[in-house]
Amino acid sequence: MEIPEINKDRLLRDLNAVSRIGLGEGGSVTRLVFSVHELRSRQLLVHLMNQAGLDVRVDAAGNIFGRLAGAREGPAVLAGSHLDSVVQGGRYDGPVGVIGALEAVRAIKESGVPVPAPLESVCFVGEESSRFGFSTLGSSLVAGDVTMDDFANAVDAGGNRLEDVLSSLGIYRENLDSLKRDPETVKAYLELHIEQGPVLESKKKKIGVVTAIAAPSRFRVVFRGQADHSGTTPMEMRKDALVAAGHLITYIDEVCREHAATEKGRVVGTVGAVKVEPGVINAIPGRAEMQVDVRSITSGSKRKVAGLIKKRARRIARERGVKVDLMTIRDEEPVAMHPGVIALIHALCEERGVPFEVMPSGAGHDAMQMAKITPTGMIFIPSVNGVSHNPTEWTDPEDICLGTQLLVEALLRAAHAEI
Ligand code: GLV
Ligand code: MN
Ligand code: MN
Repeated sequence: MEIPEINKDRLLRDLNAVSRIGLGEGGSVTRLVFSVHELRSRQLLVHLMNQAGLDVRVDAAGNIFGRLAGAREGPAVLAGSHLDSVVQGGRYDGPVGVIGALEAVRAIKESGVPVPAPLESVCFVGEESSRFGFSTLGSSLVAGDVTMDDFANAVDAGGNRLEDVLSSLGIYRENLDSLKRDPETVKAYLELHIEQGPVLESKKKKIGVVTAIAAPSRFRVVFRGQADHSGTTPMEMRKDALVAAGHLITYIDEVCREHAATEKGRVVGTVGAVKVEPGVINAIPGRAEMQVDVRSITSGSKRKVAGLIKKRARRIARERGVKVDLMTIRDEEPVAMHPGVIALIHALCEERGVPFEVMPSGAGHDAMQMAKITPTGMIFIPSVNGVSHNPTEWTDPEDICLGTQLLVEALLRAAHAEI
């Protein structure tokens, strides 16, 4: 079979164009879900898909599907990722997979090689949890594995509720299911993504064949003490909510390190956001809210550590005379990639003589959701210095091109194969 070649200049040019949207200090990129910048990036994608002559469909949530008809109608092979970003993130987390998929489908279309099944290049809305604490929003809706109740604790820093934002898009409890994609219409899902970690670079490998994704457990912890005068209140009479939070943050770091040292199933834990009230220099904090993110490839280890953290939060509250509320944001199972798709990518790397590593993903991806409805796999490319969610996030353009070229072949093989 003739293998269509990607247009490297066009791929890198379009990636550059996306990274200029939401560009900030030090080359950082901020495109929070449903912000003007994120919307602009999705508009650009729709434009590029139209220009490429794909059949474009945008659902009510803003998920975008650019379809190339196959020789036969039937289930499509999908490839994509997301265009939203964290606050002050980098240029490649997400866009590499979206623009890479677009380029792969464009190259296949232009080459005129016969494709038995339809191909779709996809952009999922709201993969990052940076705004609402809720990740993989668009792909969860497409996979149909979410209810309005799951959004109960999804609120942004400005107090906007995700549920209200969705209702402003015409998405309600009653019609949430209409966003679900019929699994019968999907043959497989592939996601090209930067590794966001140091493994490929340190092992001098070009491609990561992903075996499983460490889905997060996330919860909000709110300590409620008493706001009081910072000058007049004796130390022993304080109910300082932030001090309680501080003890818990230290415990989370310790328990994850201990777990890594003593048990199988590495667990990582992070408190990435803390909100303090009243938040002034001369008042004792009366309220401290923290967002906790715990991840592991091993479900049992993750649950165990999350349970220990919650238990410790209650103990700290008792000891310090404050109240504590614990609210689940999302609790997900680690997800295995499909053996057939893993084998397909593995074989491709071997045949092409590309140095590869078979590895799990520590970061979350839309592939976690798509794996619930279709055979799914991921292709990683190296991250320079392993850095991500940071303005210095970088991947060598040659590696982006290599990953995209492999995606072309992976799409064609998935379209031809019984998976
Ligand atoms: C997605 O980037 C995540 O937080 O894992
Ligand atoms: Mn990310
Ligand atoms: Mn990502």
